[in-house]
This record gives sequence, C-alpha cells and structure tokens, in this order.
Amino acid sequence: MSAGPSGGKTGTRKVLITGGGSGIGLAVAEALVRAGGRVAVTGRRPGPLEQVAASFPGQAFALPCDVASASAREGLLARARDVLGGLDGFVHCAGWVRHQPFGHIDEDALRGQLEVNLVAPLRLGEQALDVLEPGGGMVFLSSTLAHRPLPTSAVYSAAKAGLLQVVKALALTGAARGIRANTVSPGVVDTAMTRELRLRPGEEPPPPPEHAARLQEQLEFLGSLHPLGRLGQPGELAEAVVHLLGASWTTGAEVVVDGGILLRE
Ligand SMILES: NC(=O)c1ccc[n+]([C@@H]2O[C@H](COP(=O)([O-])OP(=O)(O)OC[C@H]3O[C@@H](n4cnc5c(N)ncnc54)[C@H](OP(=O)(O)O)[C@@H]3O)[C@@H](O)[C@H]2O)c1
Repeated sequence: MSAGPSGGKTGTRKVLITGGGSGIGLAVAEALVRAGGRVAVTGRRPGPLEQVAASFPGQAFALPCDVASASAREGLLARARDVLGGLDGFVHCAGWVRHQPFGHIDEDALRGQLEVNLVAPLRLGEQALDVLEPGGGMVFLSSTLAHRPLPTSAVYSAAKAGLLQVVKALALTGAARGIRANTVSPGVVDTAMTRELRLRPGEEPPPPPEHAARLQEQLEFLGSLHPLGRLGQPGELAEAVVHLLGASWTTGAEVVVDGGILLRE
C-alpha cells in the first residue's frame, strides 16, 4: 500500500470534494484533514466553504463552483490540483433531490436534478481521469433510491441509477493508470437534505410550530424505515468514502451504507 508524506494512502492526500461545505461532504473533508490530508471544498454558497477553510488553515481550501453549470465546472479538477499542489482524490457529494409525484414534476426540477446528480459527476469524473495522479481514487454518492424508488423520486432515482453505470465506465477507463472509481449508496442520512419538509403538491410551508412538529415526525418516520432503527449520521458515510478513496484494489464497486433499509420489502 503506497503512503505519502502525510502518511495517508494514495487517493486520500489531496482531494477535491463537491458538496464539501455540508452534510456528508463536510464529514469527508473533516475525516481527511484529521488524517493529515489536504482538501478543496466546492459548493455554490461561499459561506460554508470559507468556514471549512477557516477551521483548517493550510489544509482546507474553498473553491466555490456551481457544478450544474457546464461553463463553471470546466477545468474544476485542474483548479483544485493547482490549489492543492496535486490531486489524488475526487469525491462527488453535491446532490439535490426534489420529491414530486408524476403529474407534478416541474421541468426545472427535472433538469436540475439530472444535471447535478448525473451530468455533473460524468463530466467531473471525465476531468478526473486526466487530472488525478496515477493510483488516485474517485468516489461518487449514489443512493438506495437508485435501487428502490419512491413514487415521488422518479427523476432522482433515475439520475442516481444512471450514475452507478457512469462510475463503472470510469472505473474501466481509469484502470490502465491505476485510477479507481467507486460508489457509496446511503440510506437516509441526517443532513440538510433530509431536514427539508416534504410538502404535498401545491402545499404552502406550514407556520413554524407546525413545521417543527411535522419535520420531527418526518425524521422519526424515515429513521424507523431502517432495520437498525435510526437515520445514518454523516460520519458513518464518510468512513466508507475515505476507505474507498484509498482502497488500492477496489474499483467499479458500490458500497451500500444504509442501516439495512434495502433488506426490507
Ligand atoms: N441525506 C441523505 O439521506 C442522502 C441519501 C442518499 C444519498 N445522498 C446523497 O449524498 C450526497 C450528499 O448529500 P447530503 O446528505 O450531505 O446533503 P446536503 O448537506 O444537502 O449536501 C448537498 C451538498 O451539495 C451541494 N450542492 C448542491 N447543488 C450544487 C451545485 N449545483 N453545485 C455545487 N454544489 C452543489 C450543496 O452546497 P450548496 O447548496 O452550497 O451548493 C451541499 O453542500 C448527495 O449526492 C445526496 O444525493 C444523501
């Protein structure tokens, strides 16, 4: 197993993380930095990214970018390499879900989810093939909804299912240079995405006390769907991501970290 100056495995030393300002991406950034690595974190909002950079001076760097924009994401991996002085890892955590039943799927939400969850990782993975150092690793966040959709998740599920095949094609293409590409598929994790209240079509957000009560109900219900009886925590996903970044003989794999939810009919 190759180890670098930071002592980390190849794939974990100098890493670009999209969605690195919150949730699972932030947990990955923190885990890598704690292990001595350096990270560049990307998202649309500069605020959370600057907070990460300020928490880990000299180890974390803010690189704001809307990855849903073809022009903004062009050259993103090269920019990260320049900021970090090399790049051996790439993690795509940026993602977006909008639950809408058939008959209520609006065009912007459809295009937006396909762009962030499928087109952006394909294009950024393509860049990573050229920019990552030999032996480097990529990890993409899919979802258990790629395997078992809800009536309201057709677009998101299609994008995340498509991503699984994109990652296998990246793995085949990168293999000659030892570049690996893998996927982590979470069950429901306690992040901002999950703490967005799911409203019925056309429903206005309820006033604050009712909003808080319904959200609590939603979180408890989602937690109860998992045989392990609770929502996942971002750090529990970060463990799998960091493992795959440095796993030198694993490529084209999907690691499901889901509290057992896929065991249920
Ligand atoms: N939470 C779950 O239950 C769950 C389950 C299965 C899979 N996942 C997947 O796990 C990944 C991480 O999600 P999370 O749970 O950590 O939720 P989160 O905290 O909401 O993180 C999503 C991140 O994506 C970034 N993002 C969204 N659109 C972007 C864009 N156009 N350009 C750049 N960055 C963008 C957001 O930053 P900005 O808003 O600043 O852009 C945010 O940091 C996602 O791919 C998600 O689909 C989550």
